[in-house]
Amino acid sequence: MNENTSMGNCGISIQNISLSYGKELVLKNIDLRIKKGSVVTLVGPNGCGKTTLLKVINGFLRQYEGTVYIDNKNTADISNLEMAKTLSYVSQLHKSSFPFSVLDVVLTGRMPYISTLSTPGKKDIEKAHRILEFLGIGHFAHRSYTQISGGERQMVMIAKALVQEPDFLLLDEPTSFLDLKNQIHVLKTITNLSRTRNITVLMTLHEPNHAMLFSDEIILLRKLEDRTCGKSTTSNQCDLHNSTDNKPILTYPIDNIVVAGAPEKVMTPERIQEAYGIHVDILEYKGKRIIVPNI
Ligand SMILES: Nc1ncnc2c1ncn2[C@@H]1O[C@H](COP(=O)(O)OP(=O)(O)OP(=O)(O)O)[C@@H](O)[C@H]1O
Ligand SMILES: [Mg+2]
Repeated sequence: MNENTSMGNCGISIQNISLSYGKELVLKNIDLRIKKGSVVTLVGPNGCGKTTLLKVINGFLRQYEGTVYIDNKNTADISNLEMAKTLSYVSQLHKSSFPFSVLDVVLTGRMPYISTLSTPGKKDIEKAHRILEFLGIGHFAHRSYTQISGGERQMVMIAKALVQEPDFLLLDEPTSFLDLKNQIHVLKTITNLSRTRNITVLMTLHEPNHAMLFSDEIILLRKLEDRTCGKSTTSNQCDLHNSTDNKPILTYPIDNIVVAGAPEKVMTPERIQEAYGIHVDILEYKGKRIIVPNI
């Protein structure tokens, strides 16, 4: 990602990260830099490691090799409390079997600021109401969290993340349960917050057009195993040989990152083909680029 010399290494710096689940290597030698205050989106096929990478950054997963720095601090040296004041994470799935009110769920986002054995104060409750209003879900405050829809829960989780007042916001598919209007509402809200409060946003999205519309930069990932040559993930190079004369016809490294950078540079038909193995066309409409699957 772009270096910003005036900010030094502020932002997120991911250095040489590799991670396996048992014998399955999922992330390999990932090097990335996410500029402070930017909105960056991870895109790539199911199972390519997007959620895993977010969980490495937020410290949920520890069995990785390499180093992650947040504002120049090695995350291995950041306490859970400090991390909770620095970074909010909204996971892909939200489950709750306890009938807490929406307001109570949002207030759990204030926990890093409340001393042990204390309860949320007037200011915390005001902040929670303000965020709920800001997201347009103030009328849900006293509803039971178990009795609202999947999309409404997703909005509540975003409210909880924002009331935590983070410098860094990690969102895993924040729009997956939302209707079209709310998808745009959430993505606009997140990008506006990033601009106005200098919050660094790293999110995953499956809708490539939304990634292009709302991101400063996009990171396009692919699964480590290469479906074209079918070789194991342990080798560095994938050689395809012409079956008749055995001459190599294609050699390329097997790596998670297909490309990272400005949306128009990343989301090209060639790169999308590399990541997903599908053909797309890119159309221009009113100055915007739109990806259309070539079916
Ligand atoms: N706890 C786990 N134990 C074992 N394997 C796991 C675990 N979590 C994820 N995996 C595997 O690691 C790979 C990457 O998973 P991950 O959830 O990071 O993918 P993803 O890119 O977020 O996919 P999706 O787009 O479907 O959310 C997948 O092959 C998955 O099966
Ligand atoms: Mg995921």
